[in-house]
Parts: sequence; C-alpha cells; structure tokens
Amino acid sequence: MKTFTEQKFDIPELKGISKKSVEEHLGLYAGYVKNFGALNAEMSALMPESEKHMHAISELLRRLSFEFGGMRLHEYYFAELQGGAKPLDPNSSLAQAINETYPSENPEERIKKLLKNIGSMRGPGWAILYWDPKSRQILAGFSGEQHQGHFVTLPIILALDVWEHAYILDYGASGKGKYIDAFFENLNWGVCEENFKNAHSAQ
Ligand SMILES: [Fe+2]
Repeated sequence: MKTFTEQKFDIPELKGISKKSVEEHLGLYAGYVKNFGALNAEMSALMPESEKHMHAISELLRRLSFEFGGMRLHEYYFAELQGGAKPLDPNSSLAQAINETYPSENPEERIKKLLKNIGSMRGPGWAILYWDPKSRQILAGFSGEQHQGHFVTLPIILALDVWEHAYILDYGASGKGKYIDAFFENLNWGVCEENFKNAHSAQ
C-alpha cells in the first residue's frame, strides 16, 4: 500500500480565525494522517488471523473510515483557506451550476447562507457542497462526524468544518455562527472553482 503523507498548507493570516487556532487545527489534521497509517498497519498485522481478531478488526474498520474522512476533509478545508480570500466569479461555471440548483441574484451569498444553516444545526461535523455528475447538479449536504452522512461517490466542491475544535478557541462553545461568518470572509472561492472544474472534467 502507498503511504499517506501529511500535506503542508500555506495559510495567510486570517480575519477572525487566530493563528493559534489554525496551528492547533493543523495539528489535529496531522493526527488523522498519522492514525490512518497506524490503523492500516494494525489491520495488516491482524488480517492473517482474521477469525481470531474479528471484533478488533470490525472496530478498526470503523476507525479507518473516520480517520480517512478527517484526513481528506481537512485537506479540502485548509486548501480553501490558502491564497487569501477571493470572491466567487459570478461568470464562472461554478456560479452558473449553483444558480441552476439554487437560483438567486447572488450565488456566493446563497451558498454562504445555505451552508451556514446546515452547519449551525446541532449534529453536523461538516457542511459540504458537492457536484453530482449523474444528475449534473450541485447538492448541499453534511457529514455527521466525518464519515457518516455523506452523499457517497460525489466529489466535494466546498468543505466547511463545523466541529467545535474549529472555533472554540476563538469564539467559545456558542460561537459557531460567528466562526462560519469568519470562514466565508477568508474563503478562496478560486479553489472551489478549481474543485468544480476537476469534478466536471472527470466525467
Ligand atoms: Fe477540523
């Protein structure tokens, strides 16, 4: 199996999200990469006697998808914060696709409001914008932790982390709404446009 390596991100100073919070958050991301590798190694060691280790293996399988989700979703999230804030180009193919599913005068504001509504609910760990290549439309959804609740197979256009660890340092336990506003103030929509182009051209 190829090894999974921690990606490095060049994140500028953010408005409303402290350097310390970003540093700690990057540390959590590094943990997901490390744990995913360690769990894979444990699985390989137990597999030759899978009958004997059945219960341990089933727990490892659950943990594997959790750690993998944490690894990948954070890679989307931190990439979206690189390069500085950039608005959604209203003439981009992403803006047009958003308008087809969620018609409005301002697609950027429409998605911000939608993901804020999803992310503000009690429960979701992530608010996510997807592209469905089969029905050819943008869809908004969420993941309960980071591996449950996903629209499986759909490529991700925008991933917004709404776990408490993303905002508790800067805003306290009840500050999720303020954090989501700050996230969108720092979001580089150019990265989402690129995610959309890649998802669109892969069909
Ligand atoms: Fe996170």
